Amino acid sequence: MAELKIIEPACGGWRGSLTIPGDKSVSHRSVMFAGLGDRPVHIRNFLHAADCLSTVAVMRALGVQIQFLGEHELIVTGKGLHGLTEPMGVLDAGNSGTTLRLMMGLLAAQPFFSVFTGDASLMQRPMGRVLQPLSQMGAQIFGRNGNNNLPLSILPMQKKLRGICYDSPVASAQVKSAILLAGLYADAPTTVTEPYVSRDHTEQMLAGFGVRMERSGTSVTVFPVQKTKYCAPEEITVPGDISSAAFFLAAASIISGSRLCLHNVGINPTRTGILDVFMEMGAHLCVKNRRQSGGEPVADIEVEAAPLHGVSFGAQIMPRLIDEIPALAAAALFADGDTVITGAGELRVKETDRLHAIAEEFQKIAPGSIEEREDGLVIHGGAQLQHARVASRGDHRMAMSLAVLGAAGEGAVLEEADSVNISYPSFFSEIKRLQESGRD
Ligand code: S3P
Repeated sequence: MAELKIIEPACGGWRGSLTIPGDKSVSHRSVMFAGLGDRPVHIRNFLHAADCLSTVAVMRALGVQIQFLGEHELIVTGKGLHGLTEPMGVLDAGNSGTTLRLMMGLLAAQPFFSVFTGDASLMQRPMGRVLQPLSQMGAQIFGRNGNNNLPLSILPMQKKLRGICYDSPVASAQVKSAILLAGLYADAPTTVTEPYVSRDHTEQMLAGFGVRMERSGTSVTVFPVQKTKYCAPEEITVPGDISSAAFFLAAASIISGSRLCLHNVGINPTRTGILDVFMEMGAHLCVKNRRQSGGEPVADIEVEAAPLHGVSFGAQIMPRLIDEIPALAAAALFADGDTVITGAGELRVKETDRLHAIAEEFQKIAPGSIEEREDGLVIHGGAQLQHARVASRGDHRMAMSLAVLGAAGEGAVLEEADSVNISYPSFFSEIKRLQESGRD
């Protein structure tokens, strides 16, 4: 991932329309859950990017048949809820926390042995948060560094897991989903309670497979599934990823003369914190053509350049915009006044420590304008921007937000730009197209 990219300053606004690629979270889940079914599931608008391809490779290694009909269209044929088979080799989750954590939940319940590895970033991320509740359910999982890090080995489960009530200290959809997936195979219902509700794609999609789920406040309960009651749908259409749309919402808001229409954006309410915060900052957004697609709400979003002002937000909204902080931070540098972000400690355990990376890398472009706090950032708006060489640190969302910041300012040289392949392989060709249409 050593690609250097020259980011040109935008001369004129970004104009035009673009279709947002498939949602990463939903794409992962579509392949995993379809792989537990016993009939072919046709998946459309799948995100063909490195993270989701890690899930495809892992499911194939477990005996699931996956056939691509095109880049974004595939057919997944599982062998049933109890049909996964022991992998011959080590499973590689690559850079993908979602692949690893959800699959830990799924594999914890299987009667065979499996071993996971991943890339240098994933090696450092905490897995104890998933391993501990799964161990309470009776799973036997062992890993490096006191069972907190990859590589991890999952021992064969000879009996049923125990249903538990788990009070999660973090609002994390990956933790919640791992426990719910293990709960499918448990001897009793399993309840996960979170401090705040995290994205609910697992709940929504499993309900579509006939799994009984009950929500009450910030708790969700899954009921163990009888083999015959797990019923895969014929089709799953993945909505566009609002986390990918976020970079264009930020860019169009801060690059003067911009006007974009983003098509097919997923607007699941557990993901739309970014829209709430941008609205509060004074962004000109219009959410149109609301509709349902594959069990999830989607819409088209129009956005144009507007004067923004600083805002404060914290822990309560954090799970609804956790992946959008880098894009928001870029926009906040153009706002009038300070933006104060608290309750964002989870950003320290993403693909890189994003609080530290934003503070260090953004400040190469906007010196003196960001204060790093233990659980957040203070971003001084109206920053004086300069051309700089910046590093994505191998983090796809850092790469895209730095590209937006460079384009909105004096340009930049971006290291490890190809990390965008993790979630948005066509990102740079899209910005080139939009930038050129702004110049016409
Ligand atoms: C995801 C959950 C979030 C998010 C990640 C995708 C998911 O992570 O940051 O990009 O698909 O469940 P956490 O659950 O760790 O917050």
